[in-house]
Amino acid sequence: MQHDSILLKIKALRKELDHHNYQYYVKSEPEISDFEFDQKLKELEALEAQFPQFDDPTSPTKRVGNDITSDFQQVKHKYPMLSLSNTYNEGELRDFDNRIRKETNLEPEYVCELKFDGVSISLVYENGILKYAVTRGDGVQGDDVTTNVKTIRSIPLKLMGDGWPDEFEIRGEIVMPFAAFEKLNAKRIANGEEPMANPRNTTSGTIKMQDSSIVAKRGLDAYFYNVPSQIRLSESHSKNLEMAASWGLKVSDHVRVCRNIDEVLEYIQNWDAGRHALPVAIDGVVIKVNSIAVQNDLGTTAKSPRWAVAYKFKAEQVETRLLSVSYQVGRTGAVTPVANLEPVLLAGTTVKRASLHNADIIAGLDLHINDIVKVEKGGEIIPKIVGVNEAERHPLNQKIQFITNCPECGTPLVRIEGEAAHYCPNEPGCPPQIKGKIIHFISRKAMNIDGMGEETVELFYNKGLIEDVSDLYNLDQEEIASLERLGDKSAKRIIDGLEASKEVPFERVLFALGIRYIGETVAKILVKSFKSVDNLMVSSFEQLTDINEIGDRIAQSIIDWFSVPENRELINKLRGIGLRFELSEEELEGTSDKLTGLSIIISGTFEKHSREELKNLIDKHGGKNVGSISKNTSYLLAGENMGPSKLEKVKKLGIPIINEDEFLEMISD
Ligand code: IVH
Repeated sequence: MQHDSILLKIKALRKELDHHNYQYYVKSEPEISDFEFDQKLKELEALEAQFPQFDDPTSPTKRVGNDITSDFQQVKHKYPMLSLSNTYNEGELRDFDNRIRKETNLEPEYVCELKFDGVSISLVYENGILKYAVTRGDGVQGDDVTTNVKTIRSIPLKLMGDGWPDEFEIRGEIVMPFAAFEKLNAKRIANGEEPMANPRNTTSGTIKMQDSSIVAKRGLDAYFYNVPSQIRLSESHSKNLEMAASWGLKVSDHVRVCRNIDEVLEYIQNWDAGRHALPVAIDGVVIKVNSIAVQNDLGTTAKSPRWAVAYKFKAEQVETRLLSVSYQVGRTGAVTPVANLEPVLLAGTTVKRASLHNADIIAGLDLHINDIVKVEKGGEIIPKIVGVNEAERHPLNQKIQFITNCPECGTPLVRIEGEAAHYCPNEPGCPPQIKGKIIHFISRKAMNIDGMGEETVELFYNKGLIEDVSDLYNLDQEEIASLERLGDKSAKRIIDGLEASKEVPFERVLFALGIRYIGETVAKILVKSFKSVDNLMVSSFEQLTDINEIGDRIAQSIIDWFSVPENRELINKLRGIGLRFELSEEELEGTSDKLTGLSIIISGTFEKHSREELKNLIDKHGGKNVGSISKNTSYLLAGENMGPSKLEKVKKLGIPIINEDEFLEMISD
């Protein structure tokens, strides 16, 4: 009896939370405060933890993302996921309309929708429960990203209402709203990481992340816009969308039925002008024939339906005056020219600066000071100059000459042959290079110093407290606490963070040094091969390039870096402080080179080890764990329940298959 009433309570809470999720994320009409919502969620979490027998995979508590996906399984789409053909102007759109009217002998009704600029996704619901979420992939098969998609709050884990088919599939677009994108970038900048270029790329990166708990925090959203016509839901597309919306799926409020192409053109005009007021990026409008019967008559080509077309907006362009060019020096010494413009409104924001990339671009545009330039904003956040209005050029305007000396430290710039960028070679003495190196050193993927970011580095450097990364470890807690904007708490966090960084493994320390071309992956490879900085320091060009992934450019960069006495001195200082410059006993234990040169793919589930453990074993014995099958794969390590498509592909390529025991045999002594 007691248990019955608990189950009832759990069910009631789930229902209530589902409802509030829907009101908040789908309807944007919240009925309770975030605080109240969190209270209820916590209550449910506590009950579920106490009574695991009442577990339910569709519970709203499952949206926090607990699971790690190491490689995404390929799933074949039941109905292919087509793309759309594009039109770019009124004429092309009228051609589309003429073709439809001619082929059908009808005056068709059209549905106009926004063309969301994100990542397309197909959801499969079985008996109303979300079973699969699969990316478009090549249109025939895509990646199973269900774990990550379940964290998107606007996507129902269970359909609402009734009347849905037992097997229901719907397609839509996962997007990252501008607000979430800006929040993420602000955080990245504070952590000393590069900001992301645009919401679409960020969405596609996010949806393929291995850790769903990170995905859950990224604020993704989704809009749904197509039920495959093979699922006979209703007689029209607009009705299909209404039905989907009634089951809790988020359908845009801006879907419009239009009676003719003129109404379509009006819709396009309105949204071309009004798109910047939307919370998400769109790159055009999609026009679809409304009647499903007419859609079926028209059919599809191999690539796209003949009953729909996209109208793509032009990248917006404005003209403004080029006031001056300034030059920014990055962490690596690369000099980037930036155009300073007379402020102008473009794509919803005021633009004052545009990237000019390098000297070749400036020369190619034949830029002069005071020129009237054409500025464009594509999908990227930073606008660019695409041309000059030469008719407007005053004959006395001065041609822009690329600078010859570093604007920060005065050192003559150099240009490496074959590269577009100019560099300031004064690595140890040029302020932005010094600060940039320290910012890189403390960043999350490097030493991950808690409590520090770009601004703190700037502050410490300007106060003369740090000149290179080793100075960080001489910082005094009281002195930090006395600085503006910091305090006792922040000071303690920083000092603790620095202390904790002494445990950071060698591969990340090596990455943190910021040697040109030594990214995270290369650092890992080097550590695996050389095991200590002492070995790496004395390695020859040949020894370095003998390693598969290390090419001439990387090898030379390593040799150059270690040949500078100040750099070797820095290593000694950091070593004295206690940073790790070799693999620990623990890391060395159980390593060998038995698998060196082998690429191994893991698939299925195993008896003795988890997939993560098997990956580590491959790593420890010098092999490479790869995610997708190619002709260069050496072995497939196969467990139970592996996907049939993988098996087929491996057999076709003649790649040997081994089981867990055979694998363990390979690495045993
Ligand atoms: S309908 C068979 N509607 O645009 C029809 N697509 O360039 C399939 N897209 O792959 C697509 N908004 O990812 C449709 N309202 C919308 C859309 C939309 C964005 C994307 C979708 C598709 C791509 C085609």
